[in-house]
Amino acid sequence: MQKIKTVADISCQGKRVFLRADFNVPLDEKGNVSDDSRVVAALPTIRYLIQSGAKVILASHLGRPNGERIIKYSMRNVALSLAKHLGQPVLFLPDCIGDEVLHAVNKMADGTVVLLENLRFYKEETDNDPKFAEALAALADIYVNDAFGSAHRAHASTDGITKFTRENVAGLLMEKELEFLGARIANPERPFVVILGGAKISDKISVIYNLLQKANSMLIGGAMAYTFLAAKGISTGSSPVETDKIPVAAETIRMAESMGVKLIFPVDHVVAAAFDKETMTATDVSTSDGEIPAGKTGIDIGPRTVELFGSEIASAKTIFWNGPMGIFEMEGSSAGTFAIAKAVARPGVTSIIGGGDSARAIAMSGVGNSVSFVSTGGGAGLKFLEGGTLPSVEVLDKLYNPED
Ligand code: 3PG
Repeated sequence: MQKIKTVADISCQGKRVFLRADFNVPLDEKGNVSDDSRVVAALPTIRYLIQSGAKVILASHLGRPNGERIIKYSMRNVALSLAKHLGQPVLFLPDCIGDEVLHAVNKMADGTVVLLENLRFYKEETDNDPKFAEALAALADIYVNDAFGSAHRAHASTDGITKFTRENVAGLLMEKELEFLGARIANPERPFVVILGGAKISDKISVIYNLLQKANSMLIGGAMAYTFLAAKGISTGSSPVETDKIPVAAETIRMAESMGVKLIFPVDHVVAAAFDKETMTATDVSTSDGEIPAGKTGIDIGPRTVELFGSEIASAKTIFWNGPMGIFEMEGSSAGTFAIAKAVARPGVTSIIGGGDSARAIAMSGVGNSVSFVSTGGGAGLKFLEGGTLPSVEVLDKLYNPED
């Protein structure tokens, strides 16, 4: 069986290494990086390359500027965040291709770092334009892809460039993402408990089908649970139900039964008469049993469900969690999500967190260091968990693994 080649399998000493990272990070109103998790996740590869004596040329997209040079999407502030974490200067270059960039890159000393301007200031990036890809490749002796968050995109910097570079390997983050979302879920230590939440079944149906093949039990919370409850004929009050997906939910319940997978739904709820997403306030908040009364909207799982889910999680050897249990940003409906975050962070088990909301809940609960892995991939993670291939991983060099 083939194994992906990484930076650890090649020599980077004195080489110009083009490192595609995913620094598509949220910025505050002043343009500063407001959540640096993706920057922090890229540090092991960057540090490894610095210590190997490489010239590190970092590149990423930020936002969707659609080929326009829109200043609020500049990578300049990402360079500041990176320099702070690395404890060494990161030279920001105000373009990503061209003679001046090439000149600056060719002057780099070993072990130094530059960050190029936003790749998506050129439409050719998302068009996967071969000329643009060739211009990026002109900066590099070696190509390293550590941008798992963009691995589902076949763009010039994630796909086309590999046609013009001789060595195309994965970074250490990419390797870890593929291991935890791939091998550890494909062959989990059992029991394997999957916890899914979030707004919609429609976003995750293929992921649900794929994970049902692997899991021993699946716990479903968040707004998507209401569509399943409706399929079971349980009243959901004014909670959001995807009526067109009720047959899919019913089919999923039948599938799980026939496969012997325990599919577990909320047995009580936190409900409100109304809530306002703008002001993040809810009125008339109370707890209901399994049946949600008319006029009430579910906003979180209830305390008996926390206990039920908690005892299932406590039996697991492998846990995968994607999606919040309620509107956890709002006071009064955060307890369910935070209780799950704490339950998941158990010592001695493999706990894998996918998706931005669950990752945020883990960080807000202060248990980030007690889980095995927090994925940086949103759309890419879901694509991978659907059982699909990732175009930018397909084009990387492979190693023969004699153990397989
Ligand atoms: C992400 O944040 O999901 C990735 O960086 C990909 O961004 P995109 O959806 O704009 O391609």
